[in-house]
Amino acid sequence: MKQIKTNIDSNDPGYKSKFHLYSNLMTDFSLKSEAVFNRESHQATIKHKERGRFTVRKRIDLLVDAGTSFLELSPLAANGQYYDEFPSAGILTGIGVIHNREVMIVANDATVKGGTYVKETVKKHLRAQEIAMQNNLPCVYLVDSGGIFLPEQANIFADRFNFGRIFNNQALMSANGIPQISVVLGSCTAGGAYIPAMSDETIIVKNQGTIFIGGPPLVKAATGEDVTAEDLGGGMVHTSISGVADHLAENEVEAIRKCRDIIETLQPVERQKLEIKEAQEPIYPLDELYALAPVDLKKPSDTYEIIARLVDGSRFNEFKERYGITIVTGFAHIEGFPVGIIANKGFLTTEASLKAAHFIELCNFRRIPIVFLQNITGFIVGKKYEHEGIARAGAKLIHAVATATVPKFTVVFGGSYGAGNYAMAGRAFDPNFLFMWPNAKIGVMGGEQAAGVLQSIKSKTDGKSLIQQFEDESSAYYSTSRLWDDGIIDPVDTRKMLAMCISVSLNKKFEPVKTGVYRM
Ligand code: COA
Repeated sequence: MKQIKTNIDSNDPGYKSKFHLYSNLMTDFSLKSEAVFNRESHQATIKHKERGRFTVRKRIDLLVDAGTSFLELSPLAANGQYYDEFPSAGILTGIGVIHNREVMIVANDATVKGGTYVKETVKKHLRAQEIAMQNNLPCVYLVDSGGIFLPEQANIFADRFNFGRIFNNQALMSANGIPQISVVLGSCTAGGAYIPAMSDETIIVKNQGTIFIGGPPLVKAATGEDVTAEDLGGGMVHTSISGVADHLAENEVEAIRKCRDIIETLQPVERQKLEIKEAQEPIYPLDELYALAPVDLKKPSDTYEIIARLVDGSRFNEFKERYGITIVTGFAHIEGFPVGIIANKGFLTTEASLKAAHFIELCNFRRIPIVFLQNITGFIVGKKYEHEGIARAGAKLIHAVATATVPKFTVVFGGSYGAGNYAMAGRAFDPNFLFMWPNAKIGVMGGEQAAGVLQSIKSKTDGKSLIQQFEDESSAYYSTSRLWDDGIIDPVDTRKMLAMCISVSLNKKFEPVKTGVYRM
């Protein structure tokens, strides 16, 4: 396989200034991440530990196999919302390895408003379940939650993809043979009681975990009955009287060990076969990605230079190198896994769309997962292109993306605008995972373009404030806060993240090849 030759000179002043600019972005990213990863000094954490309880991160550490990596999802969910009182949206989700098995872990953080749910908490919980369903992963719920955050109930209670969906998903997964295991480490109140109650197997910690439909204050108000939380729905009650839980643990350590024991009893899954090679590092330094990441989206991106720092040995077997050159397609390996890469290098044209659709068919038939590297301002516009049927060519690509029968992974390394977002496996096209780089931008169009459009249709909207609004709403942080992606990642970690995600996707056999009606 051909090795990509670099044209980058790291001593060039232009390179150095881009590198420096990106260092500032990385500092901001690190500060935001540190604020949610390290909450040891917070009052709620101190109180939680004084009660003899482990933090949510410690619980996950105990649950997973020592020395394995935890693929954390959307740590910056709810960032910049709710006066920043819901770090990580009060819930940790991610894929961990337990007895060599990849497992989806959903863990409430009781130090964030009693582990209660706002809209983003629900979205994050549902997204974790969706990933579990798509990739056939058993689910472990570490439950410690006061249920719905009451002031926000109108945003999370009644709609189709609101709180109730969690239980619907549990039932459907269980019915499809995807194990559902709960460990009750604190409160499970009202609707939250159904997380352990709907699980295949549930463990509860003595004198600590509680499960009830209505807590003691509610019981008092409703019936006048005086009862303690432990007598109403504690571990002894549920393992020896009600039967709601199956195993009683003396403490958190024992509960987590019991959970690991349960996972050990699961039958191994038949993984999708893939010809995996020995992993090789790219031949160029990964941190050069900081200078290559397109921060100024008006300038063309060095797509080949980026691919050269993502794939094994910087080797890339390009497909249709000379045709539709605003999209780059080809085969490579990432940490040993074979992948088909589809990467933007300008507008989507008719030729680029047809080339990418053709390449997806190759990946389908060769059973090779696809990595979409997005940096797209959209489809090319103008009379000439409309007349030649750009929408028809675009539709073929969108069909191919939507009906691809191999796993898809999307990394937004630059812009993600307009229908380009759709054609490059945006969120609506169910990629198995979607990540953003800190510089990434996402929106229907750029702010200046939107202001121009509105001006030409004589809207009364103030152009300046619209540009600012588009600017704010298109940042990677705005996106990740609202769960439009699975997290912002350090460009240098892209290879590692993709490799973990590809491995996860092999828990489910790829679908047989199928296509829709392509408009010829
Ligand atoms: N809605 C809104 N806020 C809630 C809440 C809820 N359901 N449950 C807890 N909170 C808030 C508290 O007001 C407190 O806020 P503050 O930090 O701004 O003071 C914070 O979460 C922590 O709660 P606190 O009661 O101090 O913590 P705790 O660890 O002693 O108890 C719970 C946690 C969850 C057991 C307890 O708060 C509780 O029982 N909540 C009500 C649960 C309920 O009835 N839910 C029904 C909704 S489905």
